[in-house]
Amino acid sequence: MKKGKPEVESFFDQYAKDYNYDELPPGAMRFADDITWHFIVKYLPKNLNANILDAGAGEGYWAQKLIEIGYKNITLLDISQGMLNEANKRLSKLNVKTNIQFIKGDISNMKELEENKFDFVFSQYDAVSYCMKPKLAMKELARVAKKNTYIIVSLDSKFTRVIEFIEAEQISDLKKLLKTNISNEMGFPSYNLTWEELAECYEEAGVRVLEVVGAPVFMHLINEEISKKLESDPKIRGELLNIELENCTNKSLVNFAGHLQMIGKKE
Ligand SMILES: C[S@@+](CC[C@H](N)C(=O)[O-])C[C@H]1O[C@@H](n2cnc3c(N)ncnc32)[C@H](O)[C@@H]1O
Repeated sequence: MKKGKPEVESFFDQYAKDYNYDELPPGAMRFADDITWHFIVKYLPKNLNANILDAGAGEGYWAQKLIEIGYKNITLLDISQGMLNEANKRLSKLNVKTNIQFIKGDISNMKELEENKFDFVFSQYDAVSYCMKPKLAMKELARVAKKNTYIIVSLDSKFTRVIEFIEAEQISDLKKLLKTNISNEMGFPSYNLTWEELAECYEEAGVRVLEVVGAPVFMHLINEEISKKLESDPKIRGELLNIELENCTNKSLVNFAGHLQMIGKKE
């Protein structure tokens, strides 16, 4: 690890080239992606020229999906230059005329971005937790969004992590998480939230919570072999996804979901 860099930045710089997100095996993560994308699409602006911010954009997986459905103005911000380089490679291959910006920056202090700039703002999978300052990150996401803009954040939910720690027999890490919201299992700290705690960050940032989503709420609890077998039949896979979509906004399930996704609107 290079000295001076935050641990999370070094981790993703090293990991960037192997962060192969396109070849997900059947299982909970594929359901998570399908549910996530369903809610992103539901709230996207109608105007394909809208200014979109993908904060903690990683190697551009979501940006590619947006470009493929016609969006042209996308800013990808990430703390890891390695991840941004991979995103650049991925998006260059698409061969579409777009206006894409790559910015190395910190979601909790996006000084490179002016306020009221974006028509849609999202941060998928964990940057709001990894920055360790979720309240500041939410304020920043709200600051750069125009009024009435939808803001979507997703992260690992705190109570799902509790179960992972018990299964790994890591009781002292579990106690620390419950006391402080902090876990450290990838070699850098992460601030894990319940949906109620994330909703508080939204409200404090002046963003009204519209929907709370669990991604997925059932399929991450299913034995991998059984899940693989069921998913090999496209009809059953489709039915299971529909069941997830019908139940994923049930708040009594969300804190134990694989991921927590929240949709809000800047007031
Ligand atoms: C789990 S990856 C998700 C990447 C991408 N959003 C996706 O869904 O494929 C988390 C990303 O957050 C980035 N990240 C971590 N801390 C950050 C921070 N403080 N500011 C901006 N990005 C950060 C990491 O570099 C990494 O690319």
